[in-house]
Amino acid sequence: MSSTVIEKTRQFAQSFFEEDGSGHDWWHVYRVWNMACKLADAEGADRTIVEIAALLHDVADWKLSDRGEAHGLETIRSLLADDLTPETVDTICAIISRVSYKGAGVATPMESLEGQVVQDADRLDAIGATGIARAFAYGGNKGRLIHDPDQKPVLHDSFEAYKKNKGPSVNHFYEKLLLLKDRMHTPTARAIAEERHRFMELYLERFFGEWDGTL
Ligand code: ADP
Ligand code: NI
Repeated sequence: MSSTVIEKTRQFAQSFFEEDGSGHDWWHVYRVWNMACKLADAEGADRTIVEIAALLHDVADWKLSDRGEAHGLETIRSLLADDLTPETVDTICAIISRVSYKGAGVATPMESLEGQVVQDADRLDAIGATGIARAFAYGGNKGRLIHDPDQKPVLHDSFEAYKKNKGPSVNHFYEKLLLLKDRMHTPTARAIAEERHRFMELYLERFFGEWDGTL
């Protein structure tokens, strides 16, 4: 039963994200799904819930939909209604509605192990070599500068302020990417995050060296 609903969800997610150019393309979803499976097995989380929540985690994202989160969650409910119990659908929707980062000073609690695994997998894809590529892809898609020394990073303490932010892409490292390592839930993700974090620090060191002309 579960493998059929996962395949149906994969097909839905693949067509939903096919066209996106802001770093939320199907391959982001694919990587998060893949990593979430790995984390789920290492941490003993329920694979069906984790896989479906990972595949659909960005469907209701505030950045992607003009119609808002509620519309995305409705789409998810109707997709899954015939295959899963209402309780399982509720669990998956609760994960999806909580998964997003909302600013440096805004807590994003996640109670269930399955939710923690999906949030960790999503955040691992925002750091390291892939995270660097995504930050500049997102910035380019929104017409942002790469870097502007006159604009300092802001540690947003509300989701509203974080949403309005239009700063250059390098600021995003200080506003989100470098903070994610300490916000991982599971030990397996924390170990992977350490490595990816070091790579971003090295990248920034070189970036600023080249910016100043010292490298
Ligand atoms: P996720 O899918 O990991 O939840 P988001 O939806 O927050 O990530 O954003 C998609 C990608 O774009 C991520 O890699 C994220 O770090 C990046 N991104 C989001 N906001 C900005 C920004 N203001 N500047 C540069 N990159 C950003
Ligand atoms: Ni995502």
